[in-house]
Amino acid sequence: MWRMPRIKILLLLVIFSCICSSINATVSYDDKAIIINGRRRILMSGSIHYPRSTPEMWPDLIKKAKDGGLDVIQTYVFWNGHEPSPGKYNFEGRYDLVKFIKYIQEAGLYVHLRIGPYVCAEWNFGGFPVWLKYVPGISFRTDNGPFKIAMQGFTTKIVNMMKSAELFEPQGGPIIMSQIENEYGPVEWDIGAPGKAYSKWAAKMADGLKTGVPWIMCKQEDAPDPMIDTCNGFYCEKFTPNRPYKPKMFTELWTGWFTEFGGPIPTRPVEDIAYSVARFIQNNGSFVNYYMYHGGTNFGRTAGGLFITTSYDYDAPIDEYGLLNEPKWGHLRDLHTTIKLVEPALVSAYPTVIYPGKNQEIHVFQPKTGSCAAFLSNYDPHFSAKLMFRNVQYNLPPWSISILHDCKNEVFNTAKVKASSTQKKMTVVETFKWESYNEEAPTSDSGDGDTLSMEGLYEQLNVTRDASDYLWYLADINEHFLKNGQFPTLTVMSAGHALHVFINNQLSGTVWGSLKNPKLTFSQKVKLRAGVNKISLLSVSVGLSNVGTHYETYNVGVLGPITLKGLNEGTQDLMKHKWSYKVGLRGESLSLHTLDGSSSVEWLQGSLVAQKQPLTWYKTTFNAPEGNEPLALDMNSMGKGQIFLNGEGLGRHWPGNKAHGNCNKCSYTGIYNENKCNQYCGDPSQRWYHVPRSWLRPTGNFLVIFEEWGGNPDWITLVKRTT
Ligand code: GAL
Repeated sequence: MWRMPRIKILLLLVIFSCICSSINATVSYDDKAIIINGRRRILMSGSIHYPRSTPEMWPDLIKKAKDGGLDVIQTYVFWNGHEPSPGKYNFEGRYDLVKFIKYIQEAGLYVHLRIGPYVCAEWNFGGFPVWLKYVPGISFRTDNGPFKIAMQGFTTKIVNMMKSAELFEPQGGPIIMSQIENEYGPVEWDIGAPGKAYSKWAAKMADGLKTGVPWIMCKQEDAPDPMIDTCNGFYCEKFTPNRPYKPKMFTELWTGWFTEFGGPIPTRPVEDIAYSVARFIQNNGSFVNYYMYHGGTNFGRTAGGLFITTSYDYDAPIDEYGLLNEPKWGHLRDLHTTIKLVEPALVSAYPTVIYPGKNQEIHVFQPKTGSCAAFLSNYDPHFSAKLMFRNVQYNLPPWSISILHDCKNEVFNTAKVKASSTQKKMTVVETFKWESYNEEAPTSDSGDGDTLSMEGLYEQLNVTRDASDYLWYLADINEHFLKNGQFPTLTVMSAGHALHVFINNQLSGTVWGSLKNPKLTFSQKVKLRAGVNKISLLSVSVGLSNVGTHYETYNVGVLGPITLKGLNEGTQDLMKHKWSYKVGLRGESLSLHTLDGSSSVEWLQGSLVAQKQPLTWYKTTFNAPEGNEPLALDMNSMGKGQIFLNGEGLGRHWPGNKAHGNCNKCSYTGIYNENKCNQYCGDPSQRWYHVPRSWLRPTGNFLVIFEEWGGNPDWITLVKRTT
């Protein structure tokens, strides 16, 4: 009889017990921390949103996060990316959520999965699919039957998908936490009783999905048990969870801020970020997530919240292109190394606080086990301080915290940056030869079969359903009453976001709003002729709202009034005129952004290529440059429009929108806000547009640009980004 050798039996036993312990692994929490497999943890986490980079970039981003000392990667789940039309799902490419999570697992990190499904996130429509708005009787994020059914459906789908891929921690996977809703507190406050009922329902629904890991509800003071309420902001040390048995968690520590077209580029000094982390941890905090750790790119038309740039760099520790943003990344890595050193003391004791002087504090964690950690703080924004602690004197720069890993030696001070900084450079690697095709502004009788005619003005989203940024409002005005030699004034009011006014196929002017005030008014004398005049208004949306109570009801497009003033008869009200509508551009319906589609029109070449002309499509082909440095297009000479590479949307360009604002020199000391450390005032809000390497073929790459208001394509270059 064959007998298994003893060593094999032993090995099998070990494997069996490993499997069992991973099956039994649990994630729970107490007042101190998240507990994984019976161990309390101080967890450092960072947001990386999978569709804001490419699957080819994911392993490197995750590795850099791990090398930077993170334990957890946090991401939202982007419903509108996954279910572009009802019941039609997309989990491919940049939306391959399971693949993203498996990469994180392979790297040995945990995942915090914010299912939402509302995400905010400067993402189109806050993550909700636009079709959801048109479900009969729906009202978003409140005690509303149709909404709750849809939300539960998507949340359940994601949870089941994670379960069948065995990705929750008790199954042996990396997901240690989830999130339902996102910053619902302010909305609930606004709408009262139905809001309260909805959050109770959401908590119960999520809990009922039995993921085996805790759920959080960020920025929601009354998060029902067992949901953990958590804090988002630049600082969170004063936050306390709503029950004494919940851990104190910082789910969004903003590492910078997003950029809007028309705004400067916000940055946040790393000394202040490290200070915020240390201040939170010394006050019993046990989980910090950097929002963003890698911000990435809003490819295609995914940017939302109005006027959000294609770049979502965020001044994060890893830049948009996947390169380390130094010294930010390195200084935070040093902080994380220190936090790991003191973790045993932090999870086993409550701090004793000493107040040695004005603006000074010492937090000591000294458990019975013998370890000891101390945080020495100088909150003064102007003066450095000498602090005495256990007969030793420590020198602290203003607005800084020192960490003593053994209650004796300073291993880290938040304002003493040892990591070296690096400069980034953009070097031209390719210039282009363009061909161009000009669209005519359509008219109400263009004869295109897809023009709709209606009395009065219609809201843009109702007509486009967001299939395009563009909606044409077309009217014929018969002017027999022009005053001799005088041009009337056309006034058009729009709910946003940008508007190009064409009269008889000539661009008369362009106006646009801003994130703070998307509404706009065009008011200008226009050249009308006697007889029939063609008015073609191109209304352009620049991302859909992502935040605000019932933001799904916010309007886009030309809603009036529209008037012509200065006629013989006085003023003509064009609101009740017959308007025709055309969704999208002619070039969009012909798919000019694809190689196949582009053959349907004649392109001009050489000296005939359009310059500074509105409604122009440009195309070119090029070979992939050597090397593996990240690439970008320098669009400085262009106005506004969209960029496509090999048929995929790289994003909206708008270098014609220059940064207004204040770019004063900024100090790391003192309370930070998103307007404190702006850069590039007077320059385009976004000049460079990321071209992911993996979107390129070795030869024959097809690059198409649609330019709305006119630019000079000759100056567009492909650049590589190096350190
Ligand atoms: C938070 C929100 C995030 C993001 C952030 C600003 O309030 O939860 O999703 O929008 O603001 O970048």
